[in-house]
Amino acid sequence: MTSSRTSQARQAANFDGPGKILAREHNLTIVRNAVGLLTNDTQQLRCDWVELAGESVRQSVALLEGTKLLRPGGFIGVDTNQALIEQLRHERPDLKWRAGDLLHHIPWLCTHAEVGVLNFDGYFEVGGTRASAMLPALRPLICRGIKLFGSFVLILNNCLDSAYYRRIQPSEALRRQTAAVVEGLRGYYPRRELCFDSLLPGDFDTTRVDDRRYEGPAGAYWIYAGKRYGGAMSLRMAKLGLEL
Ligand SMILES: C[S@@+](CC[C@H](N)C(=O)[O-])C[C@H]1O[C@@H](n2cnc3c(N)ncnc32)[C@H](O)[C@@H]1O
Repeated sequence: MTSSRTSQARQAANFDGPGKILAREHNLTIVRNAVGLLTNDTQQLRCDWVELAGESVRQSVALLEGTKLLRPGGFIGVDTNQALIEQLRHERPDLKWRAGDLLHHIPWLCTHAEVGVLNFDGYFEVGGTRASAMLPALRPLICRGIKLFGSFVLILNNCLDSAYYRRIQPSEALRRQTAAVVEGLRGYYPRRELCFDSLLPGDFDTTRVDDRRYEGPAGAYWIYAGKRYGGAMSLRMAKLGLEL
């Protein structure tokens, strides 16, 4: 499969399946457990939630609003797809929508918002360079969130099975991503440094991770199947939620 077809397949997987729904709910658990992000009385977010939008952002917003976690107007959706952002702005003018690359919006987010959660689910390749290359650029946003609220939740959601197209095993791709995350977030943590073993212990079960049917935990990752294409084919995602 060529890389453009791989990318199209990942985009096609960008719809809700049971795995994605569970993964979204799991995100809420991570955020609810993070120190300082919720108000004591209403258990609502004290901070803004930023997310790479995509078509399925509507389901994310519905969940955040349905659970009353979102503070009013506290959602910012960003996408390079300008037409989509215009449509979303039309549908939900009460929320904030930004067209363009998230990285170009970091200065705006640091001055016009109070971000405590970034759902960075671009479905990039696990262990590829694209997502990890962006980590250093997120630093001002993460540091400001930690300063304002005491912690920051960063959710990375990438495509695990893209490893096969690069002729490496998913377990190896997870190792590469973990090394890149630890390196890319070095020095962010006020309380402790992230270490490789806390995200992916040396004894994690590589056989399971390399089995295309496996869904479930692998160290700090949550592996789930994206959309299934008719038959058995599906692309698995690996989601990592970090409280920084
Ligand atoms: C998988 S979708 C997001 C799904 C959605 N958050 C949800 O939970 O259903 C990823 C979206 O991120 C957008 N995207 C990828 N990289 C981006 C970047 N650097 N800046 C802005 N948008 C980006 C893509 O255009 C795509 O629409």
